[in-house]
Amino acid sequence: DMGGHDTYMHKEISEQAEAVDRVLRGRIDDRFSTVHLGGLNLDAREARGVRRIKILGCGTSYHAGMIGAQMIEEIARIPADAEPASEFRYRDPVVDPDTLYVAVSQSGETYDVLAAVQELKRKGARVLGVVNVVGSAIARETDGGLYVHAGPEVCVVSTKCFTNTVVAFALLALHLGRIRDLSVADGKRIIEGLRRLPSQIDEILRDEERIAELAASYAQAKSMMFIGRVRGYPVAREASLKLKEVSYIHAEAYPASELKHGPLALIEPAMPTVAIVPDDDLLEKNRAAMEEIKARAGRILAVGHREHPKADHSIVVPKNETELDPILLGIPLQLLAYHTALSLGRDIDKPRNLAKSVTVE
Ligand code: F6R
Repeated sequence: DMGGHDTYMHKEISEQAEAVDRVLRGRIDDRFSTVHLGGLNLDAREARGVRRIKILGCGTSYHAGMIGAQMIEEIARIPADAEPASEFRYRDPVVDPDTLYVAVSQSGETYDVLAAVQELKRKGARVLGVVNVVGSAIARETDGGLYVHAGPEVCVVSTKCFTNTVVAFALLALHLGRIRDLSVADGKRIIEGLRRLPSQIDEILRDEERIAELAASYAQAKSMMFIGRVRGYPVAREASLKLKEVSYIHAEAYPASELKHGPLALIEPAMPTVAIVPDDDLLEKNRAAMEEIKARAGRILAVGHREHPKADHSIVVPKNETELDPILLGIPLQLLAYHTALSLGRDIDKPRNLAKSVTVE
């Protein structure tokens, strides 16, 4: 049942405020400015003993994990990184007893992620799951974890589940932060930021008509560049993946700082750039990157917290707490991919060559 929408992708993009509301529900503890994650199965002593966090997932879930790793570093100050689950399992990794491993999967059935979990368990590691489908294989094989509560996602291309997974990581970061060094004041600040998300998501979705017009004006591009720095970089990666999956337009994602080390050679009027430019400490650096692109006559669509005079077009999203900004920056780019695909007449819910869950190697 598409509930009045023409595609599941559109329905699922439109449902994100309620979905985020669901992942927060019943978990926030205002008295201690923290969150309770019932299924984590990791007591405070064990959590304090964690020296590193390694997040494993594929595709969109890997991108959500990249943002999750940054949130954990920023909020909980625990070294964290994300890696594609398949790469991890084939490189004969050193499994470290002081590292907490986190497997991320919407379906909970992705074979590469499941195999990584099984290998880790064989070697005695502690593995948590951040999973959407309740009772799925990865949910069962992990030692504990948290459900993403995005509700069923039918479209092959993941949207609301990505957003909810990132919010789930913010909860995990807050929980780990508050049993370590994060102050009450910072805990409260993050909680207030999380509570603002649903209405801010709806604010972005109300801009859909304008995003659709922008999408139509970029849909003739043969190739597009996506750039961002630090918090903006995984957002750029995910937006690039979304665009190629659903519109079949070739797209590349790079850290903005890497442009001058090679990809700048591609910039010309026929290769537009989507620049993720939030109001954070890297704003000036990102402005400089936009200048370099303009100097090569590249078109720029900037996504950030203000209009950017250097860009040809800007999409403005509401500001939240800096640590949480990636959540909202990704949402207009889902709409951009959707409307680009729509204007090109693509099979949006079932892109060619793709399946919803990849249960083979
Ligand atoms: C992209 C997409 C895929 C999945 C990937 C992992 O829109 O849907 O990249 O994210 O196949 O799937 P899960 O999260 O089910 O493990």
